[in-house]
Amino acid sequence: MGEHERERQVCGCGLARREVVLGAAALGATIPVVAAAADNERRPKAGDRLVHSMGPKKGQPLRVEDLPLGGPGVLAFPMDPSGLVLDGSRFNEVVAVRLDPASLGEETRKGAAEGVVVYSSICSHEACPVNMWNDYEKMLVCSCHGSMFDPREKAAVVFGPAPRRLAQLPVKVESGVLVVTGPFDGRIGAVRAA
Ligand code: FES
Repeated sequence: MGEHERERQVCGCGLARREVVLGAAALGATIPVVAAAADNERRPKAGDRLVHSMGPKKGQPLRVEDLPLGGPGVLAFPMDPSGLVLDGSRFNEVVAVRLDPASLGEETRKGAAEGVVVYSSICSHEACPVNMWNDYEKMLVCSCHGSMFDPREKAAVVFGPAPRRLAQLPVKVESGVLVVTGPFDGRIGAVRAA
């Protein structure tokens, strides 16, 4: 590795943080290059509230009444108790869908509130956004290759090349607003071959 490349890794210029971290590992532990993740990049956790991630209500709390019963879903980001929206990573974006509580599978219901289920909106195939809705089948749909996920059954894959379900984000409802009760229950996004 040339000196110039080392400098680029130390300063992180033009590189993703992960590349900087990997560069640090390769260079040994004596180079203090690993910066803390930005506050708005951390993953959601209990106590965060959901807010609309786009549209005229962007940044406003996501309320149960904002979700049409039976879909489609609404995209959202977590917001920490201080009011910081955790939109520094697209891997934090989720899709919330409101369904008949009686239609939810037993395991799905544990993380749902008033029929609302919340899942990562990052596809497990090639990490495209799962931002479409099949209203006939009542399924979440990936915008790239059409994988479909069943929101009633922990977003299990029912069609397409996605290799695994979407991670569920458990929620509760407080004063009509969706509040996170714990971390994602699985891996987010695609798994690259080594
Ligand atoms: S990225 Fe979602 S189906 Fe390919």
